[in-house]
Amino acid sequence: MKSYSIASIPGDGIGKEVLPEGIRVLDKAATLFGFALNWVEFPWSCEYYSRTGKMMPDDGLDQLRCHDAIFLGAVGFPGVPDHVSLWGLLLPIRRAFHQYVNLRPIRLMPGMTSPLAHAVPGGIDFLIVRENTEGEYSDQGEILHQGTDQEAVIQQSVFTRKGTDRIFRYGFETAAKRKRKLAYATKSNGIFVAMPYWDSRAIGMSSEYPDVEVEQYHIDILSAHFVRRPESFDVVVASNLMGDILSDLGAACTGTIGVAPSANLNPEGEFPSMFEPVHGSAPDIFGRSIANPIGQIWSGAMMLEHLGQTSAADAIMQAIETVLIDGPRTPDMGGTASTSEVGAAIADAMGMSSKIAPSSA
Ligand code: NAI
Ligand code: MG
Repeated sequence: MKSYSIASIPGDGIGKEVLPEGIRVLDKAATLFGFALNWVEFPWSCEYYSRTGKMMPDDGLDQLRCHDAIFLGAVGFPGVPDHVSLWGLLLPIRRAFHQYVNLRPIRLMPGMTSPLAHAVPGGIDFLIVRENTEGEYSDQGEILHQGTDQEAVIQQSVFTRKGTDRIFRYGFETAAKRKRKLAYATKSNGIFVAMPYWDSRAIGMSSEYPDVEVEQYHIDILSAHFVRRPESFDVVVASNLMGDILSDLGAACTGTIGVAPSANLNPEGEFPSMFEPVHGSAPDIFGRSIANPIGQIWSGAMMLEHLGQTSAADAIMQAIETVLIDGPRTPDMGGTASTSEVGAAIADAMGMSSKIAPSSA
């Protein structure tokens, strides 16, 4: 039997509530489709930081390296500054393991209600391809003359040729297999060194993909188009910061951020890729068992797809659709169900599907 070793990091807040639901559904998929998932849990979190002064041990990356994939909940909690928790755990994993693609599907699923009056299920269906290892999220910066009236703060953005090209390459390749439309975000009018460079790499590469229609937008109007005509997008490529903001906006257009999934991909497979919901640790609702687990579960389906278990991934997506239509629903979707009631319903819905057959991927 094919088996996979998966590192699980529940992290903080609702990460600890939604991750077990992801595991529940993935284990069900494994049973139904004839493969095994061997979970190894790592307690790295803000709580771990308050005990040890570190978000993960010094050899944390080495401990993760040997696994087939990483399944993460969310990181960050009041008491530890957000930049400490992010730069202590999530960003080192993304950067060290060259998870340079942050893939974030934006899809209005059946049973979901969009806050956009004209949106219909199936109408919104696009992919955000966010650069995940450089750009505005850089560790280059300093504070000069701190505490004086000459205080100056510098944080540099870093766009390498390799980093820029590989994210556009992924975007073009993905678009070529979909509706052959690629839009990309820029802000070349204001950010006048990095962004014209970013644009020039996209324009240069576009000649290799004559069948892909390319559109360039400044990030401000692109945000407006997300709201006005989200159905017109297919693949959207954006830098690290811009892609992050667009993914919460896109998710909000499809109803709730609680269902939005993401994959941090190392497409070459040299390192494990990492799968996590788009949302954070939501301290405001933590402890009440009302967090929506669908973003975590959908991220799990992306993980199975990445591992080659596509039939199992499809079955999870079908089960998510069934529960989105029939309920139960968590409060962010207008329901009263708990996190585990929704997780259990999705696992049950998978078991009831008649189309399931063992796979050998
Ligand atoms: P957040 O995504 O945690 O929460 C934003 C809002 O959405 C909150 O009102 C929350 O209750 C709601 N929400 C989020 N996920 C939900 C779910 N599954 N079901 C129902 N409602 C949900 O973002 P926020 O408040 O900006 O950040 C909170 C903490 O999370 C911070 O420490 C931040 O640094 C961290 N964070 C971590 C991320 C990660 O681990 N990838 C991503 C974003 C934030
Ligand atoms: Mg974000």
